[in-house]
Amino acid sequence: MPFVPMKQILDEAIKGNYGVGAFNVNNMEQIQGIMRAAREVNSPVIIQASRGALKYTNLYYIKHLALAAVEDNPELPIALHLDHGNSLETCKLAISLGFTSVMIDGSLKEDGKTPTTFEENIKVTKAVVEYAHSMGVTVEGELGTLGGIEDGVGSGQVKLTDPDEAAEFIKLTGVDALALAVGTSHGAYKFRVAPKLAMHIISQVKAKAPDTPLVMHGSSSVPKELIDIINQYGGKLQHTMGVPIESIQEAIKLGIKKINVDTDGRLAITGAIRKFFAENPSEIDPRTYFGAARQAVYEVVKQKMIDFGSAGHASDYKPMSLEEAKKFYM
Ligand code: G3H
Ligand code: 13P
Ligand code: ZN
Repeated sequence: MPFVPMKQILDEAIKGNYGVGAFNVNNMEQIQGIMRAAREVNSPVIIQASRGALKYTNLYYIKHLALAAVEDNPELPIALHLDHGNSLETCKLAISLGFTSVMIDGSLKEDGKTPTTFEENIKVTKAVVEYAHSMGVTVEGELGTLGGIEDGVGSGQVKLTDPDEAAEFIKLTGVDALALAVGTSHGAYKFRVAPKLAMHIISQVKAKAPDTPLVMHGSSSVPKELIDIINQYGGKLQHTMGVPIESIQEAIKLGIKKINVDTDGRLAITGAIRKFFAENPSEIDPRTYFGAARQAVYEVVKQKMIDFGSAGHASDYKPMSLEEAKKFYM
């Protein structure tokens, strides 16, 4: 099975009323861990790369690692998605590499920090939609801003999504999926106590735009077990909480279909490598500790595929090519 447009994966998720995790990747072990999990539970997969990941992998390595995932897993629908694209040029670059989906984060200016106006967001998003759709590529937009600047993405200010604006935004831009700001933030330090997310925003947008899959960024659960492993083996992370799995499941029922996860993978990898070195201080073969990291990613991702409900759904549908996807947009 070649790459599929992300639209197909998310439209199917609406039909089946489940969520699909979108996992950030930067290297081979992360991709292999995710793919092993997907294979074992028969789940569709969204692999996403940020601008930082494109830079880290010098573009070509991420492209070919993702192609390797497709070649190695011909039975699974896999979308390759650009996370937080900051301009039309970045989206064009990702599409030229073979990405089947791009996010244009028009909630922020090109610097990825300064909030834009509604009109500015519409303008840049429309330009990306026009270009991407002519190639059958899916587009995710964002309205509202998340908190949290730990990972360098975000304004640090929270502006929850206005549901009326969201409906208008979807209509005016033609985006395939929309990221909402409902109180989550990027990075490990999201909340000090269990959060109350603005779930009513999801229901209200869903009521106004029932066919548009909605996206939740900043969805890592930051499990205490992972924080504890890191700290037990020499790390120094402060008390923190993420988005509880029950809140994500409620959000999925209400209309969230794409769930962005990066931090939990980072925590799993860091804990596994710290533990490995503490227990094997004389080991020097990188395959041993990178292997432990890969195993940790696999475990975390497998559980999420089960919890989000995408497990078991990989063979529900026939894969669509970008050529076929173009017809949606004519
Ligand atoms: O939303 C941001 C992701 O966590 C990607 O982070 O820019 O450090 O790769 P990054
Ligand atoms: P986390 O930092 O919660 O994993 O969120 C990642 C994300 O939203 C990537 O776009
Ligand atoms: Zn994000």
